[in-house]
Amino acid sequence: MSTSTIPAKRQLILALSKGRIFEDTMPLLEAAGITVLENPETSRKLILDTNDPGVRVIIVRASDVPTYVQYGAADFGVAGKDVLLEHGGEGLYQPIDLKIASCRMSVAVNAGFDYETAVRQGARLRVATKFVQTAREHFAAKGVHVDLIKLYGSMELAPLVGLSDAIVDVVSTGSTLRANNLVEVETIMEISSRLVVNQAALKLKRERLQPILEAFERASSKQS
Ligand code: ADP
Ligand code: PRP
Ligand code: MG
Repeated sequence: MSTSTIPAKRQLILALSKGRIFEDTMPLLEAAGITVLENPETSRKLILDTNDPGVRVIIVRASDVPTYVQYGAADFGVAGKDVLLEHGGEGLYQPIDLKIASCRMSVAVNAGFDYETAVRQGARLRVATKFVQTAREHFAAKGVHVDLIKLYGSMELAPLVGLSDAIVDVVSTGSTLRANNLVEVETIMEISSRLVVNQAALKLKRERLQPILEAFERASSKQS
């Protein structure tokens, strides 16, 4: 069936990022009876069909998921709490913690750097991170003065080459920190991915969205 025969209010677009979020969302979609027909790791297509002609998946950068959903270019999406805090959540309804892509947001430093003493002595710290809002709030709440350096990836490199004293990044197994001789000195918060829904779509497409949200809710609570 061509999508053009389906009324607009019955068509849904789901925004996902490639990698862990796409992979961890697949079982939740399956629980809602939806199978994605293409693999974003092998296809260059950015709009993927599913077995349901009324549901398509768009592949975007992880940090762009909230933006697509906020503006209604996607009706719903899956994004990490880290990404949502940086975005601000404007225009987004966040009904479900899917408990996927779990990690924590932490502060890490070179193994030889005495973070506690630097903080106690009121040193001004240079902190490299992709998560500037979260980092700013964390250090402001502690009363620590920081110069934030915005990076887009490979944060672990920054203290190794003297770009910063510390980093704020997500940590899961800790193996990236260990491989780079860094140590975790503070956990800022636990992170997992959330379902985000465009607020207008929630009202206008509720009939179509509701059963999918319920299936996601059931499947994610089983996982935890
Ligand atoms: P990006 O290209 O932005 O790094 P990822 O697919 O690596 O995108 O990360 C998507 C989300 O998964 C992040 O926003 C975060 O919530 C979570 N995440 C990132 N790294 C890890 C990890 N090592 N283990 C578990 N979850 C992670
Ligand atoms: C993430 C994150 C850390 C690493 C932490 O990187 O930015 O570097 O995972 O996980 P660990 O504690 O299990 O080592 P990712 O694998 O997403 O690579 P990329 O974002 O740089 O592509
Ligand atoms: Mg990553």
